[in-house]
Amino acid sequence: MLGIETSCDETAAAVVVDGTNVRSSVVSSQVDIHARFGGVVPEIASRAHVETITPVVAEALVKAGVVDSDIDAVAATYGPGLVGALLVGVSTAKALALVWDVPFVAVNHLEAHLYASFLEDPSLELPAVVLLVSGGHTMLVLMEGHGRYRLLGSTVDDAAGEAFDKVARYLGLGYPGGPAIDAIAIEGDPTAIRFPRAMRDQGYDFSFSGLKTAVINHVRKHPEATTADVAASFQDAVVDVLVAKARLAARDLGAKAMCLGGGVAANSVLRERFLGACVEDGIHGFLPSRAMCTDNAAMVAAAGWWRLQSDGPSPMDTGAIPNLKLV
Ligand code: KG4
Ligand code: ZN
Repeated sequence: MLGIETSCDETAAAVVVDGTNVRSSVVSSQVDIHARFGGVVPEIASRAHVETITPVVAEALVKAGVVDSDIDAVAATYGPGLVGALLVGVSTAKALALVWDVPFVAVNHLEAHLYASFLEDPSLELPAVVLLVSGGHTMLVLMEGHGRYRLLGSTVDDAAGEAFDKVARYLGLGYPGGPAIDAIAIEGDPTAIRFPRAMRDQGYDFSFSGLKTAVINHVRKHPEATTADVAASFQDAVVDVLVAKARLAARDLGAKAMCLGGGVAANSVLRERFLGACVEDGIHGFLPSRAMCTDNAAMVAAAGWWRLQSDGPSPMDTGAIPNLKLV
Protein backbone atom coordinates (compact mmCIF):
# COMPACT_ATOMS: atom_id res chain seq x y z
CA MET A 1 0.00 0.00 0.00
CA LEU A 2 1.33 3.41 -0.98
CA GLY A 3 0.03 6.06 1.44
CA ILE A 4 -0.08 9.78 0.67
CA GLU A 5 -0.65 12.60 3.19
CA THR A 6 -1.04 16.29 2.29
CA SER A 7 -3.79 17.55 4.63
CA CYS A 8 -1.81 20.41 6.18
CA ASP A 9 1.86 21.38 5.98
CA GLU A 10 3.54 17.99 5.61
CA THR A 11 3.98 16.35 2.21
CA ALA A 12 4.36 12.66 2.98
CA ALA A 13 4.43 9.27 1.25
CA ALA A 14 5.01 5.79 2.67
CA VAL A 15 4.98 2.15 1.66
CA VAL A 16 3.40 -0.20 4.22
CA VAL A 17 2.86 -3.95 3.86
CA ASP A 18 -0.27 -5.58 5.41
CA GLY A 19 -1.13 -2.50 7.45
CA THR A 20 1.73 -3.00 9.91
CA ASN A 21 5.10 -3.38 8.19
CA VAL A 22 6.50 0.07 7.35
CA ARG A 23 8.93 -0.28 4.45
CA SER A 24 9.46 3.47 4.02
CA SER A 25 8.03 6.72 5.40
CA VAL A 26 9.12 10.00 3.85
CA VAL A 27 7.96 13.31 5.34
CA SER A 28 8.82 16.67 3.80
CA SER A 29 7.86 19.41 6.27
CA GLN A 30 6.95 22.92 5.14
CA VAL A 31 7.48 24.28 8.65
CA ASP A 32 10.35 26.57 7.57
CA ILE A 33 8.23 28.06 4.77
CA HIS A 34 5.35 28.96 7.12
CA ALA A 35 7.39 29.90 10.22
CA ARG A 36 7.84 33.55 9.21
CA PHE A 37 4.04 33.93 8.97
CA GLY A 38 3.54 32.41 12.44
CA GLY A 39 1.19 29.72 11.08
CA VAL A 40 0.26 27.70 8.00
CA VAL A 41 -0.72 29.82 4.96
CA PRO A 42 -3.15 27.59 2.98
CA GLU A 43 -2.31 28.83 -0.54
CA ILE A 44 1.43 28.52 0.06
CA ALA A 45 0.87 25.04 1.51
CA SER A 46 -1.02 23.87 -1.62
CA ARG A 47 1.69 25.16 -3.95
CA ALA A 48 4.46 23.55 -1.90
CA HIS A 49 2.58 20.20 -1.97
CA VAL A 50 2.33 20.40 -5.79
CA GLU A 51 6.10 20.95 -6.06
CA THR A 52 7.06 18.26 -3.55
CA ILE A 53 4.59 15.39 -3.96
CA THR A 54 6.22 13.68 -6.97
CA PRO A 55 9.77 13.56 -5.55
CA VAL A 56 8.40 12.48 -2.14
CA VAL A 57 6.45 9.57 -3.68
CA ALA A 58 9.49 8.59 -5.75
CA GLU A 59 11.69 8.64 -2.64
CA ALA A 60 9.20 6.49 -0.70
CA LEU A 61 9.28 3.83 -3.46
CA VAL A 62 13.09 3.88 -3.69
CA LYS A 63 13.55 3.70 0.10
CA ALA A 64 11.09 0.79 0.29
CA GLY A 65 13.08 -1.01 -2.44
CA VAL A 66 9.98 -1.46 -4.61
CA VAL A 67 8.96 -0.53 -8.15
CA ASP A 68 5.59 0.71 -9.44
CA SER A 69 4.32 -2.78 -10.22
CA ASP A 70 4.80 -3.89 -6.58
CA ILE A 71 2.17 -1.41 -5.35
CA ASP A 72 -1.25 -3.09 -4.84
CA ALA A 73 -3.26 -0.01 -3.78
CA VAL A 74 -2.88 3.73 -3.20
CA ALA A 75 -4.38 5.48 -0.16
CA ALA A 76 -4.60 9.23 0.42
CA THR A 77 -6.02 11.51 3.11
CA TYR A 78 -9.23 13.14 1.81
CA GLY A 79 -10.11 15.11 4.97
CA PRO A 80 -10.21 16.84 7.33
CA GLY A 81 -7.68 19.50 6.37
CA LEU A 82 -7.03 22.41 4.04
CA VAL A 83 -9.00 21.86 0.85
CA GLY A 84 -6.26 22.92 -1.58
CA ALA A 85 -3.68 20.84 0.26
CA LEU A 86 -5.94 17.76 0.40
CA LEU A 87 -6.69 18.00 -3.33
CA VAL A 88 -3.01 17.57 -4.20
CA GLY A 89 -2.78 14.24 -2.36
CA VAL A 90 -6.17 12.97 -3.53
CA SER A 91 -5.47 13.85 -7.19
CA THR A 92 -2.01 12.30 -7.07
CA ALA A 93 -3.33 9.08 -5.50
CA LYS A 94 -6.15 8.77 -8.05
CA ALA A 95 -3.79 9.41 -10.95
CA LEU A 96 -1.34 6.75 -9.73
CA ALA A 97 -4.16 4.27 -9.04
CA LEU A 98 -5.49 4.77 -12.59
CA VAL A 99 -2.08 4.47 -14.23
CA TRP A 100 -1.08 1.41 -12.19
CA ASP A 101 -4.59 -0.09 -12.39
CA VAL A 102 -4.87 -0.64 -8.62
CA PRO A 103 -7.54 0.42 -6.07
CA PHE A 104 -7.69 3.97 -4.68
CA VAL A 105 -8.57 4.27 -0.99
CA ALA A 106 -9.73 7.56 0.58
CA VAL A 107 -8.58 7.84 4.20
CA ASN A 108 -9.89 9.98 7.06
CA HIS A 109 -6.89 11.80 8.57
CA LEU A 110 -8.26 11.32 12.11
CA GLU A 111 -8.64 7.58 11.56
CA ALA A 112 -5.06 7.56 10.26
CA HIS A 113 -3.86 9.12 13.55
CA LEU A 114 -5.71 6.35 15.43
CA TYR A 115 -3.87 3.75 13.35
CA ALA A 116 -0.44 5.15 14.17
CA SER A 117 -0.52 3.11 17.39
CA PHE A 118 -1.46 -0.15 15.64
CA LEU A 119 1.44 0.30 13.26
CA GLU A 120 3.92 0.10 16.09
CA ASP A 121 1.97 -2.15 18.48
CA PRO A 122 -0.28 -4.55 16.53
CA SER A 123 -1.01 -6.40 19.81
CA LEU A 124 -2.92 -3.38 21.19
CA GLU A 125 -6.14 -4.76 22.67
CA LEU A 126 -9.59 -3.33 22.02
CA PRO A 127 -11.61 -1.57 23.24
CA ALA A 128 -9.01 1.15 23.55
CA VAL A 129 -9.32 4.77 24.61
CA VAL A 130 -7.37 7.00 22.23
CA LEU A 131 -6.51 10.57 23.14
CA LEU A 132 -6.06 12.36 19.81
CA VAL A 133 -4.43 15.74 20.31
CA SER A 134 -3.20 17.75 17.34
CA GLY A 135 -3.09 21.31 16.03
CA GLY A 136 -6.65 21.06 14.75
CA HIS A 137 -8.25 18.44 17.00
CA THR A 138 -8.63 17.33 20.59
CA MET A 139 -10.70 14.20 20.82
CA LEU A 140 -11.23 11.34 23.20
CA VAL A 141 -12.23 8.28 21.19
CA LEU A 142 -13.27 4.79 22.22
CA MET A 143 -12.02 2.44 19.53
CA GLU A 144 -14.27 -0.62 19.82
CA GLY A 145 -13.09 -2.46 16.71
CA HIS A 146 -11.42 -1.76 13.38
CA GLY A 147 -13.40 1.08 11.83
CA ARG A 148 -15.73 1.25 14.85
CA TYR A 149 -15.32 4.41 16.96
CA ARG A 150 -17.28 6.20 19.61
CA LEU A 151 -16.49 9.90 20.01
CA LEU A 152 -16.53 10.43 23.78
CA GLY A 153 -15.58 14.07 23.85
CA SER A 154 -13.87 16.87 21.98
CA THR A 155 -12.85 20.46 22.50
CA VAL A 156 -15.55 23.10 22.77
CA ASP A 157 -13.13 25.83 21.61
CA ASP A 158 -9.36 25.64 20.89
CA ALA A 159 -7.56 22.38 20.15
CA ALA A 160 -4.73 21.46 22.55
CA GLY A 161 -2.06 22.06 19.88
CA GLU A 162 -3.67 25.36 18.97
CA ALA A 163 -3.40 26.43 22.63
CA PHE A 164 0.31 25.49 22.62
CA ASP A 165 0.83 27.44 19.38
CA LYS A 166 -1.09 30.54 20.57
CA VAL A 167 0.58 30.67 24.00
CA ALA A 168 4.02 30.16 22.42
CA ARG A 169 3.36 32.97 20.00
CA TYR A 170 2.33 35.25 22.88
CA LEU A 171 5.48 34.29 24.80
CA GLY A 172 7.58 35.02 21.71
CA LEU A 173 8.73 31.42 21.35
CA GLY A 174 7.99 31.11 17.63
CA TYR A 175 6.16 28.53 15.53
CA PRO A 176 5.29 25.69 15.89
CA GLY A 177 4.72 26.40 19.55
CA GLY A 178 4.36 22.89 20.98
CA PRO A 179 8.00 21.81 20.64
CA ALA A 180 9.19 25.29 21.78
CA ILE A 181 7.12 25.17 24.99
CA ASP A 182 8.14 21.55 25.59
CA ALA A 183 11.82 22.57 25.37
CA ILE A 184 11.76 25.73 27.49
CA ALA A 185 9.47 24.17 30.14
CA ILE A 186 12.31 21.85 31.14
CA GLU A 187 14.01 24.85 32.78
CA GLY A 188 10.80 26.06 34.49
CA ASP A 189 8.80 25.16 37.60
CA PRO A 190 5.42 23.60 36.65
CA THR A 191 4.03 24.51 40.09
CA ALA A 192 5.08 28.19 39.87
CA ILE A 193 1.64 29.37 38.68
CA ARG A 194 -1.64 27.54 39.28
CA PHE A 195 -3.46 28.01 35.96
CA PRO A 196 -7.15 26.96 35.68
CA ARG A 197 -8.06 23.40 34.68
CA ALA A 198 -11.29 24.07 32.77
CA MET A 199 -13.88 21.27 32.87
CA ARG A 200 -11.32 18.88 34.41
CA ASP A 201 -13.85 16.83 36.33
CA GLN A 202 -16.87 17.41 34.10
CA GLY A 203 -17.38 14.78 31.43
CA TYR A 204 -15.15 14.16 28.45
CA ASP A 205 -15.22 17.50 26.63
CA PHE A 206 -12.26 19.90 26.74
CA SER A 207 -11.83 23.67 26.77
CA PHE A 208 -8.48 25.45 26.37
CA SER A 209 -9.42 28.96 25.40
CA GLY A 210 -9.82 30.19 29.00
CA LEU A 211 -6.39 28.81 29.86
CA LYS A 212 -4.82 30.76 27.01
CA THR A 213 -6.48 33.97 28.31
CA ALA A 214 -5.33 33.16 31.87
CA VAL A 215 -1.73 32.90 30.64
CA ILE A 216 -1.97 36.25 28.85
CA ASN A 217 -3.55 37.95 31.91
CA HIS A 218 -0.93 36.49 34.23
CA VAL A 219 1.97 37.71 32.09
CA ARG A 220 0.43 41.19 31.88
CA LYS A 221 0.01 41.38 35.66
CA HIS A 222 3.34 39.73 36.47
CA PRO A 223 5.89 40.83 33.88
CA GLU A 224 8.60 39.53 36.20
CA ALA A 225 7.45 35.90 35.76
CA THR A 226 10.04 33.91 33.80
CA THR A 227 8.98 32.52 30.42
CA ALA A 228 10.17 29.07 31.51
CA ASP A 229 7.89 29.09 34.59
CA VAL A 230 4.89 30.32 32.57
CA ALA A 231 5.50 27.70 29.87
CA ALA A 232 5.97 24.88 32.39
CA SER A 233 2.86 25.88 34.39
CA PHE A 234 0.76 26.20 31.22
CA GLN A 235 1.95 22.81 29.97
CA ASP A 236 1.21 21.27 33.36
CA ALA A 237 -2.39 22.54 33.22
CA VAL A 238 -2.98 21.15 29.69
CA VAL A 239 -1.41 17.78 30.48
CA ASP A 240 -3.26 17.48 33.79
CA VAL A 241 -6.66 17.82 32.07
CA LEU A 242 -5.77 15.56 29.13
CA VAL A 243 -4.53 12.72 31.30
CA ALA A 244 -7.37 13.03 33.87
CA LYS A 245 -10.05 12.70 31.18
CA ALA A 246 -8.36 9.83 29.32
CA ARG A 247 -7.98 7.74 32.47
CA LEU A 248 -11.54 8.55 33.59
CA ALA A 249 -12.85 7.34 30.21
CA ALA A 250 -10.75 4.17 30.34
CA ARG A 251 -12.05 3.38 33.82
CA ASP A 252 -15.70 4.23 33.05
CA LEU A 253 -15.79 2.22 29.85
CA GLY A 254 -13.62 -0.72 30.91
CA ALA A 255 -11.03 -0.16 28.17
CA LYS A 256 -8.23 -2.69 27.85
CA ALA A 257 -5.73 -0.19 26.48
CA MET A 258 -5.06 3.51 26.28
CA CYS A 259 -3.00 5.27 23.62
CA LEU A 260 -2.00 8.69 22.36
CA GLY A 261 -2.08 10.17 18.88
CA GLY A 262 -1.58 13.48 17.06
CA GLY A 263 1.21 16.06 17.14
CA VAL A 264 0.77 17.03 20.81
CA ALA A 265 1.36 13.37 21.71
CA ALA A 266 5.03 14.17 21.04
CA ASN A 267 4.99 16.30 24.23
CA SER A 268 7.45 14.86 26.73
CA VAL A 269 5.46 15.65 29.91
CA LEU A 270 2.22 14.32 28.39
CA ARG A 271 4.01 11.09 27.41
CA GLU A 272 5.47 10.62 30.87
CA ARG A 273 2.23 11.30 32.78
CA PHE A 274 0.07 9.29 30.37
CA LEU A 275 2.25 6.19 30.79
CA GLY A 276 2.44 6.79 34.56
CA ALA A 277 -1.37 6.80 34.72
CA CYS A 278 -1.54 3.55 32.72
CA VAL A 279 0.89 1.86 35.10
CA GLU A 280 -1.05 3.11 38.15
CA ASP A 281 -4.37 1.97 36.71
CA GLY A 282 -3.00 -1.39 35.49
CA ILE A 283 -4.00 -0.80 31.88
CA HIS A 284 -1.99 -1.44 28.70
CA GLY A 285 -0.64 1.96 27.63
CA PHE A 286 1.00 2.68 24.33
CA LEU A 287 2.80 5.74 23.00
CA PRO A 288 3.58 5.86 19.30
CA SER A 289 7.08 7.13 18.48
CA ARG A 290 7.28 10.91 18.03
CA ALA A 291 7.65 10.50 14.25
CA MET A 292 4.42 8.50 14.18
CA CYS A 293 2.54 11.08 16.32
CA THR A 294 3.02 13.97 13.89
CA ASP A 295 1.57 13.88 10.37
CA ASN A 296 3.00 11.09 8.20
CA ALA A 297 1.84 8.79 5.43
CA ALA A 298 2.61 5.44 7.08
CA MET A 299 -0.45 5.90 9.29
CA VAL A 300 -2.49 6.75 6.17
CA ALA A 301 -1.34 3.56 4.43
CA ALA A 302 -2.14 1.52 7.58
CA ALA A 303 -5.64 2.98 7.95
CA GLY A 304 -6.12 2.58 4.17
CA TRP A 305 -5.22 -1.09 4.34
CA TRP A 306 -7.90 -1.73 7.00
CA ARG A 307 -10.44 0.34 5.05
CA LEU A 308 -9.72 -1.61 1.87
CA GLN A 309 -10.39 -4.91 3.71
CA SER A 310 -13.66 -3.65 5.19
CA ASP A 311 -15.13 -1.37 2.51
CA GLY A 312 -13.23 -2.12 -0.70
CA PRO A 313 -11.88 0.62 -2.99
CA SER A 314 -13.21 4.19 -2.79
CA PRO A 315 -15.10 5.66 -5.76
CA MET A 316 -12.96 7.67 -8.18
CA ASP A 317 -15.26 10.66 -7.75
CA THR A 318 -14.37 10.97 -4.04
CA GLY A 319 -13.44 14.60 -3.39
CA ALA A 320 -11.55 16.39 -0.66
CA ILE A 321 -13.73 17.04 2.42
CA PRO A 322 -12.14 19.80 4.56
CA ASN A 323 -14.45 19.30 7.58
CA LEU A 324 -14.71 15.50 7.47
CA LYS A 325 -15.69 13.99 10.84
CA LEU A 326 -14.43 10.76 12.39
CA VAL A 327 -17.92 9.56 13.29
O1 KG4 B 1 -0.88 16.18 14.18
P1 KG4 B 1 -0.10 17.38 13.79
O2 KG4 B 1 1.30 17.18 13.25
O3 KG4 B 1 -0.87 18.23 12.71
C1 KG4 B 1 -2.25 18.38 12.77
O4 KG4 B 1 -2.96 17.49 12.22
O5 KG4 B 1 -2.68 19.38 13.41
O6 KG4 B 1 -0.05 18.34 15.08
C2 KG4 B 1 0.60 19.60 15.08
C3 KG4 B 1 0.46 20.22 16.47
C4 KG4 B 1 0.95 21.67 16.56
O7 KG4 B 1 -0.02 22.45 17.22
C5 KG4 B 1 2.23 21.56 17.41
O8 KG4 B 1 2.50 22.72 18.18
C6 KG4 B 1 1.90 20.37 18.30
O9 KG4 B 1 1.21 19.47 17.44
N1 KG4 B 1 3.10 19.74 18.85
C7 KG4 B 1 3.39 19.71 20.18
C8 KG4 B 1 4.67 19.10 20.29
N2 KG4 B 1 5.10 18.75 19.03
C9 KG4 B 1 4.12 19.15 18.16
N3 KG4 B 1 2.69 20.16 21.23
C10 KG4 B 1 3.26 20.00 22.45
N4 KG4 B 1 4.48 19.45 22.64
C11 KG4 B 1 5.21 18.98 21.61
N5 KG4 B 1 6.41 18.42 21.82
ZN1 ZN C 1 -2.63 15.37 11.99
